[in-house]
Amino acid sequence: MNISAREKAREAFVTHFGEEPQGVAFAPGRVNLIGDHVDYNDGLVLPMPLAQGTAVAWAPAGQEVEAIASDASGETDSFRLSDIPGPDGSWRSYLRGMAAIMPEFGLPVPGMRLAIAGDLPRGTGLSSSASLEIALARAFAQAAGNKNPGAVAMAQAGQQTEHRYAGVQCGIMDQMASAAGISGHATLLDCRDLSVEHIALPDDWAVLIVQSNVTRGLVDGEYNLRRQQCETAAKALGLASLREAGSKLVTQATLDPVVKRRARHVVEETDRTRQAAICLAAGDLSGFGAILNQSHASLRDLFEVSHPAVDNLVTDLQTLIGGRGGARMTGGGFGGAVVAVMESAALDPAIQALQQQRRAAALPCDAIIAWSGRAT
Ligand code: GLA
Repeated sequence: MNISAREKAREAFVTHFGEEPQGVAFAPGRVNLIGDHVDYNDGLVLPMPLAQGTAVAWAPAGQEVEAIASDASGETDSFRLSDIPGPDGSWRSYLRGMAAIMPEFGLPVPGMRLAIAGDLPRGTGLSSSASLEIALARAFAQAAGNKNPGAVAMAQAGQQTEHRYAGVQCGIMDQMASAAGISGHATLLDCRDLSVEHIALPDDWAVLIVQSNVTRGLVDGEYNLRRQQCETAAKALGLASLREAGSKLVTQATLDPVVKRRARHVVEETDRTRQAAICLAAGDLSGFGAILNQSHASLRDLFEVSHPAVDNLVTDLQTLIGGRGGARMTGGGFGGAVVAVMESAALDPAIQALQQQRRAAALPCDAIIAWSGRAT
């Protein structure tokens, strides 16, 4: 639960509508520990929810939706549920998409007044849009008196909103991480059957997120292209998805070299995620870290979704951490955030050293501690 996003949403609601909201829904952002660009190939992913996210303050309003976005300079939107407008390239697309699509997944959408506020940096690979979708789903469910909207139904509505209202052919990891995540736990999600296993983070581990401060550009086109390349590979191998492929099959297949590199990453990344979950459950930090480092190399060299500034930051973190942990890019790539896992006792010295290095190079150092057990 994040008090500041909730409080901001409540205040925006009172200021804009002149009354107290009836409820405030919240959904977290996520950081992916490992398993990138495998969700849309039915693979395994290991994200964890953040304390930061999006809050939606709401009150019932007949058949109308009236919304204010406190982070988008107080922009508003309003429509009747019988006549929901199409996407407009802004935050409104997510609201309109969720309102239109939730009923397809058995989730009723009543009229509401609502105020949206968040505390996640946008465009940095921490799933601000998925957390908005799931916070809206929870608010609509609360307003409909639905006490137990299923995580899968909410996540699928969010994913469809991305596909049909935002033009991003994303997988389902971000929405499931937000809808099903439990604080202090990583979520091992099998994207083939959407089964979830929660694995507690050990007390003596810490998870640090550092922004590369490279704004992601041209992401949607590159992302959709990667997805197509994976589909091409699966088709050429005669499989429903790359989840069905083993690494030997991909290595031996005659494929376009670029398509083959993409497929190798996907197949090996799911194996790495499986191994990483075993290391996490066993508290094997060195093993987990080594797998994180391999994942970064694969996203950089085989899937080609990293960025030189991200690579430099990852190398700096890997050097600071040594063998007791690891670091990698996280999320869709092309800039955005880096995730590092280390001993919690090493966290403060690592942040200080990184700040010093980056200050000397005139680079910013925006860090979020996603998890830290004892001994910090
Ligand atoms: C984005 C997408 C996810 C996933 C990641 C990469 O965050 O929304 O579905 O594909 O990129 O792992």
